[in-house]
Amino acid sequence: MASPSSTAAAAAAHRHCRLLALPLFLLVPSCLALLAEAGGIPTTLDGPFPPATRAFDRTLRQGSDDVPLTDPRLAPRVQPPAPEQIALAASADAGSLWVSWVTGRAQVGSNLTPLDPASVRSEVWYGEHSAAAGDTASYPQVATGSAEVYSQLYPYPGLLNYTSGVIHHVRLRGLRPATRYYYRCGDSSLPGGLSDERSFTTLPAAGAGSYPRRVAVVGDLGLTGNSTATVDHLAQNDPSLVLMVGDMTYANQYLTTGGKGATCFSCSFPDAPIRESYQPRWDGWGRFMEPITSKIPLMVIEGNHEIEPQGNGGEVTFVSYLARFAVPSKESGSNTKFYYSFNAGGIHFVMLGAYVDYNHTGAQYSWLERDLQMVDRQVTPWVVAAWHPPWYNSYSSHYQEFECMRQEMEDLLYRNHIDIVFAGHVHAYERMNRVFNYTLDPCAPVYINIGDGGNIEKIDIDHADDPGKCPSPGDNHPEFGGICHMNFTSGPAKGKFCWDRQPEWSAYRESSFGHGILEVVNSTYALWTWHRNQDAYGENSVGDQIYIVRQPDKCPLQPTSASSLNCPTGGCPSPMSTSSSGAHLAITSGQLFWKVLVIMSVVLICTVEATRIPMFPGLILQR
Ligand SMILES: [Fe+2]
Repeated sequence: MASPSSTAAAAAAHRHCRLLALPLFLLVPSCLALLAEAGGIPTTLDGPFPPATRAFDRTLRQGSDDVPLTDPRLAPRVQPPAPEQIALAASADAGSLWVSWVTGRAQVGSNLTPLDPASVRSEVWYGEHSAAAGDTASYPQVATGSAEVYSQLYPYPGLLNYTSGVIHHVRLRGLRPATRYYYRCGDSSLPGGLSDERSFTTLPAAGAGSYPRRVAVVGDLGLTGNSTATVDHLAQNDPSLVLMVGDMTYANQYLTTGGKGATCFSCSFPDAPIRESYQPRWDGWGRFMEPITSKIPLMVIEGNHEIEPQGNGGEVTFVSYLARFAVPSKESGSNTKFYYSFNAGGIHFVMLGAYVDYNHTGAQYSWLERDLQMVDRQVTPWVVAAWHPPWYNSYSSHYQEFECMRQEMEDLLYRNHIDIVFAGHVHAYERMNRVFNYTLDPCAPVYINIGDGGNIEKIDIDHADDPGKCPSPGDNHPEFGGICHMNFTSGPAKGKFCWDRQPEWSAYRESSFGHGILEVVNSTYALWTWHRNQDAYGENSVGDQIYIVRQPDKCPLQPTSASSLNCPTGGCPSPMSTSSSGAHLAITSGQLFWKVLVIMSVVLICTVEATRIPMFPGLILQR
């Protein structure tokens, strides 16, 4: 998506800027603020918007069945020792990248013999030129990594144990940014041990003038007919990075609600104190995603469906998530896969864990504080955060479920001017007006809930403000942390747990499956588009679209006390820029040329208009 076209922008500015008797120094900024309206796409500068709801389309089904593991998209397509479930993940910067895959066959049953991860090598052969099949010598580089297996064990009658194939993770280093590479992964010492050749293009280097082409955002995906529609639609939009905000496979639901399995788990397995998670769904999901994930990085964060308790009493959790995904945790100083950060061009992504300690006295908070302190907004003007359960949500489902996390962490994010927050968990779409502490605030993040990927639990359609749909404060217990449900202290919902209308902080909500695409244009503008699945093959329409506009001049960063950061000897890294012009200084020369051209056009148009109409005091806006 190109930046707002100069011609259309000038026309839009002309339409809106017939301001009479307004000093030119006020007129020009006002006109510029409206430039992005070209094409009729609103900007956050036009907000806050009146709350809007698009009613659920009753002609659509609320959900669909799980895709069976025998489906060709989920079944094994290669024979061991060939790699499968190949997936990429971003690393510390554009110069490195993680490659993961699985070899061997997983086992399900009562007598399992885990595979030996040391029995097969973890190699990635790669270079900037394609090589003939079997010709590893043509690749100038080879990187090696590590391998592991994991088991999901249930010491209860009737439940199936599982042990995985060998899961490999290799980090490539020394890559050139924004460059196409070709690779094969596997074990070159084994006949048939290497994959077919695949390719990827590295992310752009961190910088205010370079951004990933398109970032796809999806949540609560699962593996149903709706999930496959979402992924097909997402692939059509040709993203260069995928952000997945938790609840990936719903393997833990498969034997309960999926695939026509047991409708009542506790009825079918009365002696099992914990729910079985059917791990082969993870392998099917990895195969299904491989056409995308072997080409572009998939960045994940854990959701509640990744908890998957096992063992005696369920004391062991998150084993599959931790084993299967490579994430840049060590690279970003977190030392846990439950939260981490990375850069993609001029965007700093912060992935937070809602199912680990989020208290302001805890390790995650300290890490986040330090991570944000190290962000240089002149290099990565945009800071985008993501985690699984939303803080702002007006649906009945999961309403106020993670209030404790919000109360612990929101101030830190606000002070550091996080630009956008993505969450899932609620199976519907909702975009908020800029909001902080339930109060509209032009300097607060734009919160977007995108948990409408299409999983087996169906779409959420009830709103907490619908008659009779306000959950009781005892509902919606979080699967981690405490309960901090609260009544509002001001506004139309003062003294109440739920509003009696769509809250003012909820800008737009709709119960449809889909995914989103974020296209950052420059250090100021980013286009967000929500694509509904039912629009995929219809007219060129979108479910929701808005330019998210940064205003660093109006929303200066508030310094964080260096003493609280335990800075190492030698001092802390440079704090974030508070310069209002810093981001603009980094605009590329090409962008600068067009910007100057547009500014001059706007000034000329508005000056001509002003001279054609008699001057008089006051501001009169002619529309
Ligand atoms: Fe969830």
